[in-house]
Amino acid sequence: MPRSARTHEFGDAGVLTATQPLFTPYRLGALDLPNRIVMAPLTRMRARSDDHVPTALQAEYYAQRAAAGLIVTEGVAISPDGFGWADTPGLWTQAQVRGWRRVTDAVHAAGGRILAQLWHTGAMSHPDLRGGALPLSASNVDPEQRSVTAAGRVPTVAPQPMTRDEIRQTVADYARAARNAMTAGFDGVQIQANYLYLLAQFLNRATNRRTDEYGGEIEGRARILFEVVEAILDEVDPSKVGVKIGPMHETGPFAANDETLPMAEYAIRELSGYGLSHLLIMGNTTDFTGTPLEPLMGDGMFRHFRPIFRGTLIANVLMDRERGNRLIAEGLADLVAFGRPFIANPDLVERLRTGAPLAEIDWTTVYASGPKGYSDYPALQPASL
Ligand SMILES: Cc1cc2nc3c(=O)[nH]c(=O)nc-3n(C[C@H](O)[C@H](O)[C@H](O)COP(=O)(O)O)c2cc1C
Repeated sequence: MPRSARTHEFGDAGVLTATQPLFTPYRLGALDLPNRIVMAPLTRMRARSDDHVPTALQAEYYAQRAAAGLIVTEGVAISPDGFGWADTPGLWTQAQVRGWRRVTDAVHAAGGRILAQLWHTGAMSHPDLRGGALPLSASNVDPEQRSVTAAGRVPTVAPQPMTRDEIRQTVADYARAARNAMTAGFDGVQIQANYLYLLAQFLNRATNRRTDEYGGEIEGRARILFEVVEAILDEVDPSKVGVKIGPMHETGPFAANDETLPMAEYAIRELSGYGLSHLLIMGNTTDFTGTPLEPLMGDGMFRHFRPIFRGTLIANVLMDRERGNRLIAEGLADLVAFGRPFIANPDLVERLRTGAPLAEIDWTTVYASGPKGYSDYPALQPASL
């Protein structure tokens, strides 16, 4: 069947494909997105190990996915101290900026738009990645996770608490990385402030035991986040700066406690006042039953935070065509981010449009090297659409 005829068919969700909310255009700051589909940030470990420069392979991989309304890159280390996961890229040297320029040029040539995700891993790094030096964080609390080193996954260690000068330097490193991102041709940046990484380590009462102005109550623990935002806004227009943040329930000291939700509410309410490009928020990836986050399960996350953030909200985790369309139609999200589905489906946008089946991920090649399981997943041939 010719593809043009397909646009007038009813998809399997019973929605006329030509009018799926996911396929309506959206204005994000100065960017015109042709659809509401965002490629979520995905660490894939294909950068050069020695100098953390993104490769031509990465340019090819992202360009293959340029039909997304917006791409958010994998986490990109803002500085040598921010680096903490083997074979991931950076954005602090001129060689890295040139490497990213190749990526942004390829994505733009393919008609796409791309943001750099700014990442500081804090205590998730490891002495093996830092010439023997301890990773830096808010306090000396072992996050009780696994670090990804060149030799594989190893237990995390108790990090070294940052001095005030190191915090000041870290804030400046975020600003430099944001400036470098714009020099590299990115359409903006996204600050990674959730999961288990540095900013989350400051926000979390269990990993931030500081008694100075960067610790203590909620306002103190969130101080570094706003300093980072403000330092970046000195370099980049707010319409190009977004944040990935939200409450999570993970293991060890990252288990949700009775301050996890109040902290997220406070941080997101304050972020709402900066006129930022977007908030990317994850629904639950773990079972919240019996935790203080239980009411946020499923769509509860978006229902809860939608009224708190007065800007573009990007909803993520376990999205599919039906759910994405519904969240937009119900006003619970403006954009919808897909992570895992983009790994094996470079043409995910077309598959969502037509209701074609999705290819399965080969997990053995997700965190690997080379093109296999990275840039060699095929698009569906027109005949099979
Ligand atoms: C292989 C892989 C790598 C990821 N890397 C990152 C990352 O670098 N930064 C980030 O914020 N989230 C990262 N995530 C989380 C995804 O962005 C996304 O939030 C998560 O996969 C849930 O969305 P999904 O259900 O559509 O996959 C990663 C997830 C996966 C599966």
